[in-house]
Amino acid sequence: MFIFPDKYKEVGLSHNPFKALVSPRPIGWISTRSSDGYVNIAPYSFFNAVSEQPPMVMFSSAPHKDKLLGKDSLLNIKETGEFVVNIVSYSFRNKMNITSKNYPRGINEFEEAGIKMGQSKTVSVPYVKFAPASLECTLWKTINLPDNLNGSSSTMIIGIVTGINIENSVIRDGKIDVTLYQPLARLGYSDYSRVEDLFSIKRPD
Ligand SMILES: Cc1cc2nc3c(=O)[nH]c(=O)nc-3n(C[C@H](O)[C@H](O)[C@H](O)COP(=O)(O)O)c2cc1C
Repeated sequence: MFIFPDKYKEVGLSHNPFKALVSPRPIGWISTRSSDGYVNIAPYSFFNAVSEQPPMVMFSSAPHKDKLLGKDSLLNIKETGEFVVNIVSYSFRNKMNITSKNYPRGINEFEEAGIKMGQSKTVSVPYVKFAPASLECTLWKTINLPDNLNGSSSTMIIGIVTGINIENSVIRDGKIDVTLYQPLARLGYSDYSRVEDLFSIKRPD
C-alpha cells in the first residue's frame, strides 16, 4: 500500500497512521514558568535529543484552536527562555496524562496532578521531584514549521541542556538502568509502551 500523508481515509484507514508509524516516541514532560511566575507542565512526544555535544533537545508544539497565541509551554519559554524536560517513568503515567488537559494559562498542573516540585539549579523552572531524571534547559531557538492544512503551524523549540538531575535509585554499577524506572513511550492512537527489558549489540569495529 502507498498513501499520500493526508489521504489515509481513501485507502480505508480509520486514523492517520503517521504517529503510529513513528513510534515508540519518548515523552518530554516539559515544565515551564511564565515571566510573572506561573508554573506549568505538559507532555510532548514530538520530542527528542538532537545533539550530544553540546547536549541539546527539541520538542514541537502544535497549534491549538483555543490558544491562538500558542500553547502555554511555548508562550512561557518565549517569555523566560527556560524549560525543564522531565523523564516519564511508568509509575508517573497517570499524573503525566492529567497534565495534558487543556488547563487555562496560570493553572499549575503540578498542583492539579499532585506532583511535587523540585528546585532546579541552573534555571528558575521547577522539575518533577521523584521523576527518574530531568534536563534543565535554556532556549536556543524556536522555528516556525510550515503551515498545516488549516493555515496554522507548529513551532519547534530547541534547547541546550545546562543541568541534569538524576534520582540515585535509577543508577546501577555507574550506569543508568532504564529497567529500574521503565521509561514511558508514546505509540499511535491512545497507546503507550514501556521499556521493561533490553539486549545489547556491539558495534562493528
Ligand atoms: C503523551 C502525550 C504527548 C503529547 N505530545 C504533544 C506534542 O508533541 N505536541 C503538542 O503540541 N501537544 C502534545 N500533546 C498535547 C499537550 O500535552 C496538550 O495540548 C497540553 O494541554 C499542552 O499544555 P500547555 O498549553 O500547558 O503547554 C501530547 C499529549 C500527550 C498525552
